[in-house]
Amino acid sequence: MARDLAIDLGTANTLVYAKGQGIVLNEPSVIALNQQTGDVLAMGHEAWQMIGRTPGYIIAVRPLRQGAITDFDITQRMIRLLLHRAGVSRFNRPRVVICVPSAITEVERRAVTEAARRAGAADAQLLEQPMAAAIGAGLAIHEPVANMVIDVGGGTSETALISLGGVVALQAVRVGSFDIDAAIQSFIRREYGIAVGERTAEDIKVAIGSAFPVQDEVKAEVRGRDLMSGLPKTVILSPEEVRLAISEPVNAVVESVIACLGEAPPELAHDLIVRGMHLVGGGGMLKGLAQRIANETEIPVYLVDAPLECVVLGAGRCVEAYDQLKVMFMGARS
Ligand SMILES: Nc1ncnc2c1ncn2[C@@H]1O[C@H](COP(=O)(O)OP(=O)(O)OP(=O)(O)O)[C@@H](O)[C@H]1O
Ligand SMILES: [Mg+2]
Repeated sequence: MARDLAIDLGTANTLVYAKGQGIVLNEPSVIALNQQTGDVLAMGHEAWQMIGRTPGYIIAVRPLRQGAITDFDITQRMIRLLLHRAGVSRFNRPRVVICVPSAITEVERRAVTEAARRAGAADAQLLEQPMAAAIGAGLAIHEPVANMVIDVGGGTSETALISLGGVVALQAVRVGSFDIDAAIQSFIRREYGIAVGERTAEDIKVAIGSAFPVQDEVKAEVRGRDLMSGLPKTVILSPEEVRLAISEPVNAVVESVIACLGEAPPELAHDLIVRGMHLVGGGGMLKGLAQRIANETEIPVYLVDAPLECVVLGAGRCVEAYDQLKVMFMGARS
């Protein structure tokens, strides 16, 4: 028996949920690509392992970096690899539910479903990420009340207001936690003349990055390469400095939440003061972000229990109760 699958193909992380089993795959959305032949050799942790230990023409690629499918061919190979790892074969063809950004174009929609079908899925349905997140967070999406989710991912941030099983207001920006890493990198380069890698910048973000002053702030020691001498050099960064460095992408996220609130019908806006907003996505774990959004909007903000898994768990619920929840799929309503 084929086990139906739910997939969250994120710009930073890819998760797969199998019916009756739960999350069976959780890996970075990275592939190892042979530049000479165009072959996709590995994905996730395995791809990271290959880089640096293999000839130079094998490179690491994040195919969904900007939150959109830039290269259909590579995305298709990635989906095929994923389904293969989840046990899909010629004799085992499950139905697949794929979470996609609400702002996806018609062309991208067709590209994703087509890719999944060609990769062996018996059927492929799309589910809007904010809807999946709301289901995953256990919100009362079918009721005539305001349910607001803010999903801050690697490459995108989406805020959606959901009521009666539909998206009432939506704001999506192609700014996410990757942009915070990039801002930290360029700050250190500019202020200290030191080059640090993407992953070092991410470590700094997780360790001392914040959107609002938090208690017990500590400084961080950062090692990089001096741009002038080419030699290793160490500097000490303070949380205030990092806050300043990342203010631009953080402000963009906060502003898009405010813009979404501006689209909300008055009755639902009133609900929110009581029900609050729900923050999901790895980027939502940035220290002080919930507090910062709450302060600027005067609406309580709650970080969900499992920010990184919330979307795939919501899609997983749809897979568990397929016939009951299939009305939530994107094609079903249009
Ligand atoms: N504790 C933390 N503090 C700050 N950022 C974090 C933390 N943990 C993870 N992140 C960041 O969260 C991001 C990944 O989040 P997530 O997995 O939700 O993105 P995604 O779903 O793949 O992206 P998208 O939804 O944009 O397609 C990474 O950029 C990572 O650095
Ligand atoms: Mg996501």
